Amino acid sequence: MNLSFLECTRCGDHLSADQPHNVCPKDGGVLYARYDLARLRGKLRSDDLKGRTATMWRYAEVLPGRPENEKPVTLGEGFTPMLPSREYPNVYVKDEGLNPTGSFKARGMSAAVTMARLFGLKKLAVPSAGNAGGALAAYAAAAGLEAHIFMPKDVPIANRMECDYYGAHVTLVDGLISDCARLVAERKEKEDWFDVSTLKEPYRVEGKKTMGYEVAEQLGWKLPQGIIYPTGGGVGLIGMWKAFDEMEQLGWIGPERPRMITVQAAGCAPIVKAWEAGKSTAEMWTGAETFAAGLRVPKAYGDYLILEILKKSKGTAVAATDEEILAAVRHWASAEGVFAAPEGAASLVAYQKLRASGFFKADDAVVLFNTGTAYKYLDLMEAMRRTVRPAPPASRNIGGIIGPY
Ligand SMILES: Cc1ncc(COP(=O)(O)O)c(C=O)c1O
Ligand SMILES: [Zn+2]
Repeated sequence: MNLSFLECTRCGDHLSADQPHNVCPKDGGVLYARYDLARLRGKLRSDDLKGRTATMWRYAEVLPGRPENEKPVTLGEGFTPMLPSREYPNVYVKDEGLNPTGSFKARGMSAAVTMARLFGLKKLAVPSAGNAGGALAAYAAAAGLEAHIFMPKDVPIANRMECDYYGAHVTLVDGLISDCARLVAERKEKEDWFDVSTLKEPYRVEGKKTMGYEVAEQLGWKLPQGIIYPTGGGVGLIGMWKAFDEMEQLGWIGPERPRMITVQAAGCAPIVKAWEAGKSTAEMWTGAETFAAGLRVPKAYGDYLILEILKKSKGTAVAATDEEILAAVRHWASAEGVFAAPEGAASLVAYQKLRASGFFKADDAVVLFNTGTAYKYLDLMEAMRRTVRPAPPASRNIGGIIGPY
């Protein structure tokens, strides 16, 4: 294992990676896993990856775990397609909908559950906007661990059903992910749960950073000019930025970086608001509402990291309305053959806006992340469609044939 220690992103303190940790005990800062990259440099070359397993574990040397003693908890996550857009030359769709459990959350949970099992933890708890809960439930099932999941009662039905089938303990909450987080925090000590909340343990980021390794590898070790990422808690964005630094230290890429773009739903856009106001942290968003369930995160624990990355990378933050997102789901499906989660389709909205404003030029290579599959959102999408375009009247149902969809 090349994992050396954990480092606080606020105060820089080091903690041992030999036991489980949540956040920095001193200041609550997010902890980053640090590896002995100097030792790996030159020994592990990007060429060595050729022929390795087509999962995120192809990057095992820069991931946590002890593969020499215990295999990672894997369901085949990662190494998802990088699809050249048919519509926009130089644009790519990174399709995370093909992951186990249908979203990029699988990557984070594969790494976090691998480490939890290694540490002998038995009960894991998570507040979730939906997909993280489903992913934890699946990986806990694969590892033989207990999963305790708290999610809003109006998450897509797929999220509730998958958790149930995977054998997790599910609590539906009349509130948002922030209310779910409070419940986990209140009960975890008494119940002996280990909290795997977004950025409150160090290894989900590690799984998600593999998206950054894949962007580089799949584009021939050349980073694009821009990456657009649907941001709730922001782990995907944070993880990829960390991956770029690691790859530079390994000598796999140079100092160039993509402009990192956050896209959020207009009904819950705390990062966009903070970015536009030039702030380094975000305020709690009140009255969050969007059918892009994964973006209904009123306060991101790692807001300071997200905003710093946007600034350092000369990126920006863009909001997309639910109507724009639904139209983008339909457009991507018909123009590209990609049936995207609403969160993912928001990336297309952001790209179109940034092309219109001149932020991106036609010859800029830009990767749009589709973070999940639409198949998990059919109920929310159907309800949303009905509000935009009401169902046809019953009189059109003639001879058992219902009128056009
Ligand atoms: C499909 C999808 N996309 C994006 C996000 C936002 O991810 P993050 O919280 O890592 O920013 C989520 C979170 O639930 C999600 O489910
Ligand atoms: Zn600290």
